[in-house]
Parts: sequence; structure tokens; C-alpha cells
Amino acid sequence: MYRDPVLSLQPLAGVPAAMRPLRVGMIGIGTVGSGTFRVLARNQAEIAGRAGRGIEVVMVAARNLPRAAGIVGDGIPLTDDPMHVATHPDIDVLVEVAGGTGPARDWVLAAIAHGKHVVTANKALLAEHGAEIFAAARQHGVAVAYEGAVAVSIPIIKALREGLTANRIEWVAGIINGTTNFILSKMRDEGLDFAGALAQAQALGYAEADPAFDIEGIDAAHKLTLLAANAFGTPVRFADVQVEGITALQGVDVACAEQLGYRIKLLGIARRREEGVELRVQPALVPAAHLMAHVNGSMNGIMVKGDASGVTMYYGAGAGSEQTASAVIADLVDMARLDGTHAAQRVPHLGFHAHAMSQLKALPRAAVHTSHYLRVPVHAANQIEAVAAFLAARRIPVQQVVLAAQEKTGPQVLVLTGPAPQGEIDLAVHALQASAAVAGAVTTLRVETLAG
Ligand code: HSE
Repeated sequence: MYRDPVLSLQPLAGVPAAMRPLRVGMIGIGTVGSGTFRVLARNQAEIAGRAGRGIEVVMVAARNLPRAAGIVGDGIPLTDDPMHVATHPDIDVLVEVAGGTGPARDWVLAAIAHGKHVVTANKALLAEHGAEIFAAARQHGVAVAYEGAVAVSIPIIKALREGLTANRIEWVAGIINGTTNFILSKMRDEGLDFAGALAQAQALGYAEADPAFDIEGIDAAHKLTLLAANAFGTPVRFADVQVEGITALQGVDVACAEQLGYRIKLLGIARRREEGVELRVQPALVPAAHLMAHVNGSMNGIMVKGDASGVTMYYGAGAGSEQTASAVIADLVDMARLDGTHAAQRVPHLGFHAHAMSQLKALPRAAVHTSHYLRVPVHAANQIEAVAAFLAARRIPVQQVVLAAQEKTGPQVLVLTGPAPQGEIDLAVHALQASAAVAGAVTTLRVETLAG
């Protein structure tokens, strides 16, 4: 099955780069790689018409060579050595769609050191090693593109880096993990349990190799670091993101949120404030009438608030084989158009040139400023007033207090607060928890109005 790429490629010496197809080496031919291969073949003529030249996959590295041969056919050399592809002299662009962070970092850095452009859909790799990878790319004058790493089919990196380039971006917020949105939608609309909904997401190819990345919010946090870097001109800083997934979320809160006129979504939020930036991923209540509340299934939705543009919103598939391929190939078309350009003339990797990047301070959890939802189990329904009074006495801006319409759980007081620092909410809830009226653990979730 193994065919040696070195023996099967034609030498390129003396052929002007722009006259011949862009030659792509691919590492990984799983969900994203196979989709990329298929779409490149199917839309060959249109893609070449837009790129000004053909784009050909000329070599593929895969772990399972017989499976890979079944996808790419007989004409393309296969190897099980990714480094061979990353450093091969006849490759112009490395497409890394294998995932993971350790070996993938080595392949990408090797390709860059060998003067190759890189296209990747690997958000974990860039969130953790982006600073090193982008610095190496600058040093070697090559491009690293990653549209497929964030909200796959939505061209949000292009929108931030190019379409919104006139703006001072104030915030970016959205549903940026298809798997968790799929799970939340299935649980709410079809009454599926968590495990059943996750199994469906895995079967459809939405989930990461380790689905804990999805359900614990890590995948969304990876994507948020890339969005924030492009929005604010700050380096990628995964460690600064406050991350909370959906595993602790209870069905009763989904129902109580509905009662109050909200839906719960896993949101990634990057907000610039005077004191620094908030970077956070968490399940949050969104008004049921808001467009974001209607982003369902594996779809993603992202809003960007620019000072000149106002709020813009982007919607599209957040996971999937050809949906990600759409973004990977868009990056390849950009690469095909790069020949003859000087690195300084290109769109910078993170939207800002390196000298213009700034380290914005990441705000701690206690400083995050939002409205809150509290669900307070009480011994008796008439303790609703005691709960409201307790919070008001601690200067929590209580806006709405109602009894939950949940029969199974015992009396529950639902509270919606106005905006308050998380630190003050935490202190008040801690004290409330110890009061005689309270019969169990108080649940708090943030409320996001996502208003312009
Ligand atoms: N596991 C990811 C998601 C795939 O569900 O969004 C696309 O990045």
C-alpha cells in the first residue's frame, strides 16, 4: 500500500511557482481531511478559477494507509510518516488536519522551517502554541492560516481580520462549539439525556477525539483565544480563559430559564473593558427572543460589536466534514494568491502586525460584570421574600423574583439580578447558602443580553 512520495513526484526545478498548481501535502485524512479532499476534487474548476491556479493534493500522511487509499484513490502518494510530508521539497503548503498538540507542533514548525505555508484547522495547537508558531512563520516569511479552526464554515477570522478591520472591537460573543450546542438542543427539544445526545454528536463526527474537550468547554476556549487575539490585537493566551462546560448543568435550570423567558447556551465571550479583557466560556442565559437563542443543533453563531460597524452576527455550521473543508480550502485559495507578495504586505496572522500587538490584562473571575440567574431551593414557598430581602441587603440589584413552576424539586426561588461584579455575587450567594431559609445548593448562572 505504501507508495514513496519521493519516487512518485515530478521535480519542479525551473517551473515558475505561479504557473503551476499549488502543491499541497496533507497530514490526516479523517473527518476534515477527507472532506477537504472531496471538495477540492468536486469543485476543482471553480476553485482554480478563483485561485488563479489549480490546487492539488500531491501527498498524504495517514496512520491507516489502507483506509487513506480508499479515500484518495491510487494516484496520490501515501506515507505513514507525517514529517516526510511536512518537509518534502515538492510541497508548497502543509495542510495539518490530524489534530493534537505535541506531534502536530513539531510537524508545523518543521514545515515552516522548510519555507512552507501552513493551513490548519487545529485550534488546540494554535491556542497552546500559537505564539511560537506565528513567530516562526514571521521569521521564515511564510503564512499560517486557520479559518477552519474557529466555527468551521463561518468565515469569522476573515471577517475580523479584514471585513471589520476599521473597527475598534468591543466584544465578540457566540456559540462556538457545535457538539455542546447539539447536545443542549437535543436535550431541550427532544428530551434526550446527556449521554444519548453526546453519542449522536460523536456518531455525526462533530465531537473532538476526546469529547471532554467539547463538553468541558475547552474546545470553545481554544477558539475564543483566537477570536480575542484577532479582535483586540493581543497574543493568543489560552491560560487566561475562564472555562466552564455543560457537564454540571442541570435539566431543572434549563426548564427554569425557559420559565423566565431565556434559553441556556454555552457561550464564549471576549469583552474589552477599561481595566482589561474578560475571556470566558460558560453556560449562560440568553433572552429567548434573541437571535442567538435560535442557533440550534450543531450550528454556531457569533456576534461582533465594533465601534463603527455596530453589532454584526454570523451564523453557520459549527462542525462537520465538508463544512470545515470549506474553510480549509478558502485558506488554500489565499495561499495560492500569495506568490510574489512580500510577507509585510500580507494580512497578519492575528490581524495586527507584530509590533502593534499589546498584552491586555486578563480580568479575574471576581471582576466579571454581568447579570445573574440564581436558583435557590427553600423550605417553604413563603420564603421567597426572605431570599429577596437577604440579597437586597447585600446590595445585589434584584430585578425579578419568582417561584419555579417545578413540582418535582420542592420549592425553588428564581432570582434575576441586574449587572453586578461576580465577586459580590459570589460573596452574597455564599452567605445566602448558610441562611436558615435555604434548603440546598444555590445554582448561579450568568445572564447575557448580547445587546448592542
Ligand atoms: N468539536 C468541535 C465542535 C468541532 O463541536 O465544535 C469543530 O471545531
